[in-house]
Amino acid sequence: MPVAVGQEKLKVLIRRARIQKRVVEVARAITRDFKGERVHLVGVLKGACIFLSDLVREINLDTSIDFIAVSSYGKGKQSSGQVRLLKDLDSSIQGLNVVVVEDILDTGVTLTYLLRILKQRKPKSLKIAALLDKPSRRIKDVKGDYIGFTIPNDFVVGYGLDYAERYRNLKDVCILTLPPEKE
Ligand code: IMP
Ligand code: MG
Repeated sequence: MPVAVGQEKLKVLIRRARIQKRVVEVARAITRDFKGERVHLVGVLKGACIFLSDLVREINLDTSIDFIAVSSYGKGKQSSGQVRLLKDLDSSIQGLNVVVVEDILDTGVTLTYLLRILKQRKPKSLKIAALLDKPSRRIKDVKGDYIGFTIPNDFVVGYGLDYAERYRNLKDVCILTLPPEKE
């Protein structure tokens, strides 16, 4: 069982074996869709780092990776609604088949922002791979092209996802419940 801190509670939502299996399926779909071409994975730091690490090793194509960092969240569970670019890509994406790799597609604010700035750089194609999708929370019209799991409206941590920078190291995706005064 994952170890929770203080009064916080963790409940497993998606077990590691299911995640592993699904990551292989997503990688196969990407391999199939880009057969004979190169793909350039753009990981959104920090949440996507673990998903990207597992995904890239299952893609059977000419592949390169880069990272971008944005922030829309403060320390809590609520998005501030404003996206800031914290770290840009190292290299140009012009003419490349770009797959943006995200941990979770929630309100859609982050990906809408990212798609807008990346499109301006003239990639050959631009797709989204997200481990998790919470469609019930969407406020922007954005869809993932490759989705691992569609989940209900719970706050989740683990496999890269954090609460106030903690719990990214959990192997399972878990629902986090805070003590009442912190909600
Ligand atoms: P969006 O801009 O609302 O779609 O949020 C995307 C970002 O919010 C993700 O990349 C995560 O970093 C964070 N986020 C959204 N939902 C959760 C959650 O349930 N747990 C942890 N982080 C989340
Ligand atoms: Mg994130």
